[in-house]
Amino acid sequence: MKFFLDTANLDEIREAVSIGLLDGVTTNPTLVAKEGAEFKQRVIEICEIVRGPVSAEVTATDTEGMCTQGRELAKLHPWVVVKVPTTKAGLKAGKCLVGDGIKVNCTLVFSASQALLVAKTGATYVSPFLGRLDDISHVGMDLVRDIVTIYRNYGYKTQVLAASLRHPLHIVDAAKAGADVATMPYKVFDQLFKHPLTDKGLDQFLKDWEKAKVQ
Ligand code: G3P
Repeated sequence: MKFFLDTANLDEIREAVSIGLLDGVTTNPTLVAKEGAEFKQRVIEICEIVRGPVSAEVTATDTEGMCTQGRELAKLHPWVVVKVPTTKAGLKAGKCLVGDGIKVNCTLVFSASQALLVAKTGATYVSPFLGRLDDISHVGMDLVRDIVTIYRNYGYKTQVLAASLRHPLHIVDAAKAGADVATMPYKVFDQLFKHPLTDKGLDQFLKDWEKAKVQ
């Protein structure tokens, strides 16, 4: 499973890269706005740090506008993946960008039927938003399981990128479901490392070691 950070914060990205466990980054307009950074400059900076796929989202809502923005974004850096919303206009734009040889991530996916359409456009990634489905009392992980089954049935190459992940169990369940990628906030990435029994066990080992040295 590939790990992406869902952030536009450079410190968080640098930290994950320094551990050697980061495969890519996803951003969205909300995350970039939170950082108060100039969008295109920030996308380039992120690409330079992560040296892996970096999703940057278009903000136009019509096909032509999305295609124009997508082409501009793709020119920023070879690692840019253009993120388009999974609307009819977005899928049309996605198909056109794929035709130009640009990598596309279809975002805001909430149904298997949308994911099937995404695969048919030849997009590189499909992004089901699990947490937001959980928020409205739907089991978000069921959607990942359905998409993985459908894609395997037909050998679609589009990678399933589990998004809107809110806690470590989301990552584990997405891995069990066969998602290719999990994108997560830095906080969740950090939580993956932690276990109280590891801390307790290590503490005891070190205490025993000190005692043995005294004898
Ligand atoms: O990866 C999608 C993410 O940015 C949305 O997450 O927590 O706002 O639903 P959330």
